[in-house]
Amino acid sequence: MLLLFFLRRNLRRNPSGHSKGNKSLFPPAGYPPLCALQRLLRFIKILQISGKYCKYPFKAVKLFLRTPFSGSPWSSSQRFCPCFFSSVPPVLIRKVKKALLGRVVMGKRLILVTDDRFGSYAEEEAVLSEVNAEIHVVKNWESCCMPDLLRQAEGVFTNLFNLNSQIIRQLENCKVISRYGVGYDNVDVEAATRKGIWVARVPDYCVEEIATHTLSLLLSCARQLPLYRKSVREGAWGKGEPLPVCDRLQEKVLGIIGFGHAGKGFLKKAMSIGFRKILVNDPYVDEEQIVEAGGIPVPFTELLSEADCLCLHVPLTRDTYHLISENEINRMKNGVIVINTSRGPVIDQAAFVSGLNSGKIGWAGLDVFEKEPLSADDPLMQCPNTVLTPHVGYLSRQSLSELKTKAAQNILRVLKGERPLYPVNSPL
Ligand SMILES: NC(=O)c1ccc[n+]([C@@H]2O[C@H](COP(=O)([O-])OP(=O)(O)OC[C@H]3O[C@@H](n4cnc5c(N)ncnc54)[C@H](O)[C@@H]3O)[C@@H](O)[C@H]2O)c1
Repeated sequence: MLLLFFLRRNLRRNPSGHSKGNKSLFPPAGYPPLCALQRLLRFIKILQISGKYCKYPFKAVKLFLRTPFSGSPWSSSQRFCPCFFSSVPPVLIRKVKKALLGRVVMGKRLILVTDDRFGSYAEEEAVLSEVNAEIHVVKNWESCCMPDLLRQAEGVFTNLFNLNSQIIRQLENCKVISRYGVGYDNVDVEAATRKGIWVARVPDYCVEEIATHTLSLLLSCARQLPLYRKSVREGAWGKGEPLPVCDRLQEKVLGIIGFGHAGKGFLKKAMSIGFRKILVNDPYVDEEQIVEAGGIPVPFTELLSEADCLCLHVPLTRDTYHLISENEINRMKNGVIVINTSRGPVIDQAAFVSGLNSGKIGWAGLDVFEKEPLSADDPLMQCPNTVLTPHVGYLSRQSLSELKTKAAQNILRVLKGERPLYPVNSPL
């Protein structure tokens, strides 16, 4: 009906007659008039922009009223669409706007998802229904709706998106940013704190998965599975070139750097292998805790020079950026196995590739990289002595469900006036 009404009025209209009527609804003098087709295209654009909101007709109309057009020369100062509403009498617009905005105020609370990695948000919606919140997944950051959405959002879920101070500054109504995951290095926590926004994370949803993934990478490297797999696939089966021979793990020393959730979980699993010694370095954890768990607390440099297998479980901070660089690699044993399931930039990747090529590093199992996704022409891709996975250490059906539920609980609690489940900052 709305479309028919629009078409009727516009197609009858003289395209150059736009300058009559309420001036605020029209382009300023000097801009070319819009023809009926342009108006129609812009109207369709609004419909597309607010496509998700078609479930919520009041919200859709609200967006019609408030969405400026990107690229429209007069739209930046004007809050609603001149082309569409130039065909509707101003009195009617005022009446509709008043009625609809009144209903929207009583409507749902907006929660944004900055980057879509899950496709569906049933768990989050179930948790957040208690506070009448609705989830909007940002598909296009260039969309002209973004300033409005950022301003209205009361909560934000974020995955790997770079939530920098520029964006945080626009979150005028936001009370909490909930990071889907353990690390929160992609969120400018200082900027959020300054704005009075809680930042929360989910530190314990995948302890089991990350420990299992680290062990899988370690065992694949130690048993050189990629080379044996290649041998089977190529039909070589050890004929011709002799198969590479690996070492017995029980005679080896394991080194764990970082003894938080992931480090502890991994140590528990690694105990079953029967390593000769398990060395642990974490200057922020009581040595007693490490000993109780079956590890031996040692300084960083001692661990580097003694470990045959080295697993990284530190967060990415200013201190841990390039924690493993050329100097550290030189201190390691020849043929060391290095596993990184923490964060890519903890390793200086260029120095690391040189180490892999020279044989100083025997094998590497990597789930995380300096730049993700790893590009096809990255030198790491050419190293045969690696097992690479696409940042999936956290992943299982159960961990995903726990992650989504707990991330939503972080937001729920703040919207109810409480502290988040797992706060990172203290903005109050
Ligand atoms: N690959 C994945 O899918 C995946 C999944 C979960 C966690 N992670 C990453 O793994 C890392 C560790 O996770 P976690 O759950 O154990 O975090 P955590 O915060 O529980 O533990 C980190 C530990 O590192 C220690 N640490 C900090 N700086 C250190 C340093 N310079 N030297 C030694 N120890 C140091 C801390 O004291 C803490 O005990 C995080 O970066 C997280 O983002 C990745």
